[in-house]
Amino acid sequence: MRAQNVAGATAEETLDPESWSEALALSHQIVKDAVAYLRDVRDRPVWQEMPADVRSRFSASLPRAPEPLGDVYQMITETVMRYPMGNIHPRFWSWYMGSSNFTGALGDFLAAVQGSNLGGGNHAAALMDQQVVNWCKEMIGFPASASGTLVSGGSMANMIGLTVARNQKSGIDVREYGVAAIKKPLRFYGSDQLHGCHRKAMEALGLGNCALRRVPSDGGMQIDIRALRAAIREDRATGFQPACVIASAGTVNTGAIDDLAALRALAEEEDLWLHVDGCIGALLAIAPENAYRVAGIEEADSVALDPHKWLHAPFEAGCALIRDASAHRHAFAVTHEYLETRDRGLASGPWLHEYGLQTSRGYRALKIWMSLKEHGIEKFGRLIDQNVAQARYLTDLINAEPLLELVAPTSINIVCFRFRLPEADRAILKRINSEIMVKLQEEGIAAISDTTVHGEYCLRAAINNHRTRRSDLELLVQEIIRLGRAHCH
Ligand SMILES: Cc1ncc(COP(=O)(O)O)c(C=O)c1O
Repeated sequence: MRAQNVAGATAEETLDPESWSEALALSHQIVKDAVAYLRDVRDRPVWQEMPADVRSRFSASLPRAPEPLGDVYQMITETVMRYPMGNIHPRFWSWYMGSSNFTGALGDFLAAVQGSNLGGGNHAAALMDQQVVNWCKEMIGFPASASGTLVSGGSMANMIGLTVARNQKSGIDVREYGVAAIKKPLRFYGSDQLHGCHRKAMEALGLGNCALRRVPSDGGMQIDIRALRAAIREDRATGFQPACVIASAGTVNTGAIDDLAALRALAEEEDLWLHVDGCIGALLAIAPENAYRVAGIEEADSVALDPHKWLHAPFEAGCALIRDASAHRHAFAVTHEYLETRDRGLASGPWLHEYGLQTSRGYRALKIWMSLKEHGIEKFGRLIDQNVAQARYLTDLINAEPLLELVAPTSINIVCFRFRLPEADRAILKRINSEIMVKLQEEGIAAISDTTVHGEYCLRAAINNHRTRRSDLELLVQEIIRLGRAHCH
């Protein structure tokens, strides 16, 4: 029931707490619980299956009546906080993600409290958004004149880079006339190890999946440059317009890094746009022992990188960088009568939405900014080196263990391996190894994932985790052997 004021009119409502002191007390409790949650993460299972009664709570109908916030929070502690994905746990190495950090979480909280919309304008958060983009440029050695934008993640960062590439190489005003007006069908190239987001981007850009030629990868899982040259030659001869090469600086399957210098040279010879998918590996550029692996990334036309991976920003945070700032802006800027720029006042700052697809944009910069300021870039670089060294350590453990075998060369922080059974065929190996993977998850010991590399099914540990210790990797090996042996008997 709405309250009535003295004059009998309906009182105006707000979402602000009725009692700020009660809100403060509950907030204190939430922060206290959150600190304990992170402090004790190692003592909990990495992951656990949700009981039916927990699942069923997410089928409850749309709430109509109010509930005390304390009760709402209680439900969160019993469900969401108890049954997480697990990627903040020291033994989470599935797929590819970062492990977040407390300062970043505080940043997200403050960003939400402060509430700015990063579509643009003249305010402090907008300056910080641009500052974080500038820091990303500096991290990978991009020129200060380049532009960039913070986006939801790597998929969107790649989408931004590939959109600019398409527009620049289309030979027409593709924004005005659309892809149907392009004279010769465009071709993009990448290795057969490309992340799936590139296919989605090609589809969304109206070029279609077939416009992305997957060039075979070699034994090191890098794009085969000779095969790439041949593909380009063949396409030119058959009426296509080679437009862009997508280099992987860290493939999702094995972490392989394409030969960036060779691809730069080829892009120049062939007049192609060079886009680097650096979601996994671009930030190696800040790691003293491993920066050499991505030398040349600073020469790309565009780069996608992912602060929610090796900067461990809480999800979501990706970044697209484009060397030619004007090409970037021209790919997205639209002048709206309702978003005019002014000389003074709130609308006198740049419109940041002119560098991507979103108009309203979340305040992603703060969580990145706070943890970069707190720790300094050198510590993030050392943590990257630490993960690469840990992957080498796991590789050594595997090589020393007769019951395990590597399935692909370890390049940076991804290890592809399997429990081996000399007499077993591929189907049996797959069944046993996938059972080991699921058991590790169900028993809450560790989370690893699986993939198939050059036709060989394998387990895959992607160590992008600042909480992992070598002892965690020793435990992983022991437990895989225990589960593998148990499965075979
Ligand atoms: C190489 C590569 N590219 C792109 C992506 C997509 O990034 P996101 O999941 O942040 O959208 C990933 C994700 O792991 C990746 O590994």
